[in-house]
Amino acid sequence: MLNSVGLSILVLLSVAGATTIERVEYDYYKYHDMQEIANWMNQMAKDHPDVVTIVDYGKTYEKRTIRLLKIGLNTGEKKKGIWIDCGIHAREWIAPAFCQYFVRQILQAYKTDTDMKTMMTNMDFYVTPVLNMDGYIYSWNNDTTRLWRKNRSPGTSGCKCYGTDLNRNFDANWGTIGVSPDCCSNVYCGSSPVSEPEAQAVTYFVGSRKDDFLCFLTIHSYGQLLLVPYGHPNVTASNYNELMKVGLEAADTIKKVHGMNYTVGTSPDVLYPNSGSSRDWARMQGIPFCYTFELRDKGTFGFKLPEDQIQPTCEEAFSGAMHIITYVHSKTFSGAVATTAVTLWTLLLAVCVTSTNLM
Ligand code: ARG
Ligand code: ZN
Repeated sequence: MLNSVGLSILVLLSVAGATTIERVEYDYYKYHDMQEIANWMNQMAKDHPDVVTIVDYGKTYEKRTIRLLKIGLNTGEKKKGIWIDCGIHAREWIAPAFCQYFVRQILQAYKTDTDMKTMMTNMDFYVTPVLNMDGYIYSWNNDTTRLWRKNRSPGTSGCKCYGTDLNRNFDANWGTIGVSPDCCSNVYCGSSPVSEPEAQAVTYFVGSRKDDFLCFLTIHSYGQLLLVPYGHPNVTASNYNELMKVGLEAADTIKKVHGMNYTVGTSPDVLYPNSGSSRDWARMQGIPFCYTFELRDKGTFGFKLPEDQIQPTCEEAFSGAMHIITYVHSKTFSGAVATTAVTLWTLLLAVCVTSTNLM
């Protein structure tokens, strides 16, 4: 009798033990705080050690380590790169949710999808889920700080407000338009170009490998826009027509997913003029395909996009991003593959002709 009770307790305990160690599925359709995202990054590296590595590339003002996931197959060759950053603006919570979804999708796809596998052979994806970590944490604090946009560095020379708009701080026509020199403004551009550690981190990391990057995507909300360089109305990108063509195709792809309309254009044409953005800086470095994604919505909920829209927003944006990435990949690599094939055929033909002649 006692024995069987003891046994039942033992069985119950082990069942309880088994349930606690069982892995809980990560919920990609909820917003996650910084700690959860940090844990998730570690988990990705642990679950996919063959393709994922974590790269630390800077510190925030509050001394947090800025990290990205580098995703690609280890070929031992020099590879091209795709840059994606999310969460440069703290309150745009859908952006970090997108980066996490993006990573999950490509890690699922490459195992079965040969095109994705080819892309991961030729290119590495550099994904920063949360660039402005201090601001993101601050926006999670309470309701009054939920709509924080900037980073958390204190204003210089007696100004009592906090924060620089990181997307006005890059060295791209810095301080000329769509910014404010007032540190209390939401579009304060900082005391000098790249004065902020978060902007420095991107500038150094991307700048030191600028020839490797084919594409620079920076993810924001809201407005349903695909913005191409430049934010200054007086400058036009040398490949403006191609940027627009690919952007418009991406918007078509997006519309096919859930019927949402995305507008494509330069910031002054479709939103407002601005200077010092990371997108413009990246284009000025010579990275050909640079886009800002302004995800859902168009103002109904704005920055407080309900969680039930995370999934459709990520699905459509993923297809738009993949359109751009696939385009740059084929532009860079299928030419090379075709050339190799032609060379091989010519060689084969030459061998055949020679051997026939010899006979
Ligand atoms: N993420 C945008 C920015 O970088 C904010 C756009 C929201 N405003 C709007 N009117 N849609 O400034
Ligand atoms: Zn933004």
